[in-house]
Amino acid sequence: MNAPFLLVGRSVEFELRLRELLGARLSTVPGAFVTFGADAVAEQVEGSPKAVLLGPVLNFDETHALAETLTERHPGLAVVVVREQRSDLEDWVDELRLHAVVSPLASDDELKEVLGGVARWLVTNELAAADDFRPVRHSVDATSAFEEYIAEVEPETAPETEPESGARAEDDGELESSADTEGDSIGVDGVDASESIEEPEPAAPEWEFPPLDAARPTEAIAVVAPKGGQGKTTIAINLAAGLAKAAPNSVVLVDADLQFGDITAALDLAPEGTIVDATSEVAADELILKTTLTHHKGDFFVVASAPSPELGDRIAPQALGRLIEQLRGIFRYVVIDTTPGLGEHSLVVLEHVTDAVFVSNLGVPALRALRTELELLRTLGLLPVNRRVVVNQTEKNAGLTVKDAEQIIGAPVDVDVPRSTAVLLASNKGVPLLDDDPRDPAARALRALVTRIAPEAADTRTRRRR
Ligand SMILES: Nc1ncnc2c1ncn2[C@@H]1O[C@H](COP(=O)(O)OP(=O)(O)O)[C@@H](O)[C@H]1O
Ligand SMILES: [Mg+2]
Repeated sequence: MNAPFLLVGRSVEFELRLRELLGARLSTVPGAFVTFGADAVAEQVEGSPKAVLLGPVLNFDETHALAETLTERHPGLAVVVVREQRSDLEDWVDELRLHAVVSPLASDDELKEVLGGVARWLVTNELAAADDFRPVRHSVDATSAFEEYIAEVEPETAPETEPESGARAEDDGELESSADTEGDSIGVDGVDASESIEEPEPAAPEWEFPPLDAARPTEAIAVVAPKGGQGKTTIAINLAAGLAKAAPNSVVLVDADLQFGDITAALDLAPEGTIVDATSEVAADELILKTTLTHHKGDFFVVASAPSPELGDRIAPQALGRLIEQLRGIFRYVVIDTTPGLGEHSLVVLEHVTDAVFVSNLGVPALRALRTELELLRTLGLLPVNRRVVVNQTEKNAGLTVKDAEQIIGAPVDVDVPRSTAVLLASNKGVPLLDDDPRDPAARALRALVTRIAPEAADTRTRRRR
């Protein structure tokens, strides 16, 4: 048996997926061998693979050494890196002679597209024979779907950049072609099987993480209140949804209400992982952290709440702080829903944010509690520079006006959000109010809060309307 694809990585889950897709066309070398060096890995390789997938969870040096050693032993070998797109990926593309980059979170179709592209490219450039990619014996069922991606070989569409078999870096043309493919997270371009056209170009997965703009500071926004039931979660969700319209997929919403986090319920999400996973030690690896995030179709990510209050309480406050810092390295906006009050976890959150939104309803006890909270935070030096006060669930005839509220709190109110049945309706549907009922008065007020925090969100809206 001579499998054309070789996988060297540290994720069993990814390996299983690839196995399902490729069947006997895949051979693997367990990630454990990587620790012993590239030569040790090369020793394990059977036959002569045509393409190697490196990752997930390999660092740059490991990937570099593997790419060098394996291409030396198997001239003409195509190299595909399995890794999230992030800001330093360009270095990888510059330094390594890559044929494609694919996200470990890519869908099966996207994986097939990339691998099919690589296969066709190898065949077109006579580095492999079409037969190398035919199904091998008992693998037929699980892999038949892959066929269409390698069936068409069109020599005249060969890309300009052929690998001279030895395969070391340094060649500019080659680098460019890798850079192109990376953005789309699809493989070597120019060789699409244009038979099955649903869309002319398969779009990049919606949830690719856009690279961070190094010139712009990231913002972490905590939504806090001394008491429960004031509207923290409602505000956090709609903030994330609103910010995501201005910065799609550059927003993460963290459910750090460790006792009664309910964001996944309010958004009707089946979480991939929880904040317990996201704060675990292994999640110090950014790639693993990303696998704990759940994507929302409104173009933002969610760190789901702890599965139980006990597990939530066990999260070390420092781990929560580290999570926020890590997320700030990946996202432009980190929105954090918090546990009511000023427990240790909330204080650590406040230490790690740039903005805070304080929430109260129009009741005297809640307003007084907010005043106390603000005073205490000022004493502790933990009042974030950017802070807004939101009075939520305001009503015409509540006996108190927003002016009264300002007097009690001892600070100006930035936004008042009227009580509206649309809030509960949206939450019961599992949809952010901003999307469910954008014209509702509460939605308007929440949008005003979004634009206070991110003025560019207003720009997007105006542009869209035009
Ligand atoms: N402006 C509003 N109008 C009507 N109901 C609201 C409003 N804001 C929040 N609610 C409702 O109040 C309850 C508590 O809100 P929630 O956001 O869960 O608060 P917290 O997270 O502070 O506990 C929820 O049932 C929510 O639907
Ligand atoms: Mg809540």
